[in-house]
Amino acid sequence: MIIGTVIVAAGRGERAGTPQEGPKQYRRIGGEPVIRHTLRQFLTWQQAGPIVVVIHPDDQTLFAEACENLAEAGRILTTFGGATRQQSVLEGLRCLSQTDATHVMIHDAARPFIGHDLLNRIAAELESGEAAVLPALPVTDTLKRAGLDATVETTVARAGLWAAQTPQSFALPAILDAHLRAASSDRHDFTDDASIAEWAGIPVRLVEGSPDNVKLTLRRDITMADEKLSRHPALPDVRTGNGYDVHQLVEGDGVTLCGVFMPHDQKLSGHSDADVALHALTDALLATCGAGDIGDHFPPSDPQWKGAASRIFLAHAAEIVRQHGGIITNADVSIIAEAPKVGPHREAMRQNLSDILGISIDRCSIKATTNEKIGFIGRKEGIAAIATATVVYGVLSS
Ligand code: CTP
Ligand code: MG
Repeated sequence: MIIGTVIVAAGRGERAGTPQEGPKQYRRIGGEPVIRHTLRQFLTWQQAGPIVVVIHPDDQTLFAEACENLAEAGRILTTFGGATRQQSVLEGLRCLSQTDATHVMIHDAARPFIGHDLLNRIAAELESGEAAVLPALPVTDTLKRAGLDATVETTVARAGLWAAQTPQSFALPAILDAHLRAASSDRHDFTDDASIAEWAGIPVRLVEGSPDNVKLTLRRDITMADEKLSRHPALPDVRTGNGYDVHQLVEGDGVTLCGVFMPHDQKLSGHSDADVALHALTDALLATCGAGDIGDHFPPSDPQWKGAASRIFLAHAAEIVRQHGGIITNADVSIIAEAPKVGPHREAMRQNLSDILGISIDRCSIKATTNEKIGFIGRKEGIAAIATATVVYGVLSS
């Protein structure tokens, strides 16, 4: 199952303000455009596959500005929307069907308070085989039906009534087919995607929505959202992990540190290539998401890791971090060795880290020190490394 996302953001937001103020999805709440909050929730969700944002052709600059320096924004695909929400969704579904997504969550850009808990609840229903999942909350107000003269005609029984939210989520081929059939049957009046699924005969499963997941519709909704975020500013979920490793030096022809071979009259003994620097950094990365240590993932007792290049271990740890929704922002390694001299190899080592982790070289740091001839390192009996990894896991919800 690969869960793609279509975020519809091509509306004009006429109920939320004047055209001069711009569409509501680009207005600022908590100092950032509404849509940036929405995008961040999906970009940092660990199960998120391809993400399509449906924008208005007039909003290309606004959209680019809203995504500036947003981590992982390079993953976003964009397409242009139509005159109604229904048409915009269809354009998004067409675009998403060019990717490997098997399922889709269709979400309003104007719902920036979507949280990972709700996304997880919906994903669990899709996983269990539901073709259509609708997050909704039971209606709590008493409902009245009134005529044009504002006189109440009747009280509507509230039992069994639900208020629909997004992301409404589906098996992608089923909802694309339903949308195409609705369009070719000249049915353009659907106000959400679940009602198209109902019309197409697809059973729709309810899951409990989230009271925070409101749609910003009126000007006051934007003001209230801004006040809420000012009271509880969203804090980035920055985590650091540390790692330490040491290997013994024995007679040999060279050592490998951060994947760079350095000729030397000794070598590091160990089961793999004994690259202490990459081992320490692997542990540091695993420590940012509670994923144990290198020995849990690559037991020294397992013969397949004999002589293995340690870049495999580091790449695996980076993948685990990504699966947890983490974005690696810094990798820092200190090597403690009496010899050989690390300085001449430093840039090659940084380049290796940059390549293995898929981050820019200015986020990769290598430092080296001798042990001032003291202790086992000073006596050239071993080399040690200490590493610190910094990873951002989305935003801490208040
Ligand atoms: N939407 C869209 N294309 C449209 C109309 C709406 O992509 N032609 C999107 C909006 O950008 C919004 C979501 O659908 O994220 C929900 O629609 P709504 O709240 O009605 O937004 P607007 O149509 O922009 O607002 P209004 O109806 O007040 O003009
Ligand atoms: Mg609208």
